[in-house]
Amino acid sequence: MKEAITVSVTGAAGQIGYALLFRIASGSMFGPDQPVNLRLIEIEPGMAALEGVIMELDDCAFPLLNSVHGTSDLEDGFKDTNWALLVGSVPRKAGMERNDLLGINGKIFTGQGQAIAKAAAPNVRTLVVGNPCNTNALIAMNNAAGVPNEQFFAMTRLDENRAKSQLAAKAGVHSSDVTNLCIWGNHSATQYPDFTNAKIKGQPLTSVITDQNWLEGEFISTVQQRGAAIIKARGASSAASAANAVVDTVSSLTTETPAGDWHSVAVCSPGAYGIREGLIASMPIRTNADGSWSVVERVPVDEFSQGKIDATINELLEEREAVKDLIPA
Ligand code: NAI
Repeated sequence: MKEAITVSVTGAAGQIGYALLFRIASGSMFGPDQPVNLRLIEIEPGMAALEGVIMELDDCAFPLLNSVHGTSDLEDGFKDTNWALLVGSVPRKAGMERNDLLGINGKIFTGQGQAIAKAAAPNVRTLVVGNPCNTNALIAMNNAAGVPNEQFFAMTRLDENRAKSQLAAKAGVHSSDVTNLCIWGNHSATQYPDFTNAKIKGQPLTSVITDQNWLEGEFISTVQQRGAAIIKARGASSAASAANAVVDTVSSLTTETPAGDWHSVAVCSPGAYGIREGLIASMPIRTNADGSWSVVERVPVDEFSQGKIDATINELLEEREAVKDLIPA
């Protein structure tokens, strides 16, 4: 048996947590021969519910679940962890401005970044899901002294999966036939699902779907507004599909990307594509055979795409400005 991987999850008693933990423990995230330790973090009011979730994890008797530990102490929760999945955050309430939300959540992520730096394993990789996830990741990264920036990510995979599913439905193919789909920028309504470089069964997508008006209009807005549409239909925000995207993101960051393809995840920009160095922005990423990642170079960016990328990157710059007090110089 391999040595167990330790995974910490914040907001573990929330909706996404409830859909995510059982996937991790059953082997969906790291494969059928990889044992895991779960360290589950909640704020005090969530601890009773977390106890219940832990009871259910116990009751599954998962062969790969080596240990489960619940805590509201950050350093205890991130102790020796290899993966910190930061799901918990405070939801936007009626009357709350975006900047209020940035400030409230920002404070959570300074503490979490510091605790990760202090307690986690040196190779810890941190994936932020809790919104606004790009800027929360920026704050955690800048407060995690000594942890390399390359080890911080924010999730845009749900957007990629949503985009692939919409394109597949339009083309009458399976979603797995759609490749090379990149989400650029922020996980927000400004994100840009780049159809111009996507492929269907290896062919340029735009030669299969020729309805340019649909691609530039309804397709983009459907992907951008999908979260709101799910809240309207379900009466609650997307949780199972978000948890599935967490599984996909970690899996894509731990296995070599198929030749010629890429996946979407927000990383610390190395300055590629003119995106300001140090911003946490989504772009086309390849995972290499040694487990490191690289930005895919020379993906064509036409004028239409550049306009969309500029808009979403500008929003990230504004968000960074709004939380600049939480980022140590
Ligand atoms: P939820 O409200 O059901 O659960 C959040 C949990 O986090 C609660 O149990 C709460 O007690 C806990 N929590 C709050 N502050 C915490 C802290 N400081 N430390 C530890 N735990 C804390 O919310 P849900 O549906 O699970 O969503 C979680 C987050 O994920 C939200 O911010 C949501 O907007 C975001 N999200 C992100 C997506 C993405 O694609 N990046 C997709 C869907 C949701």
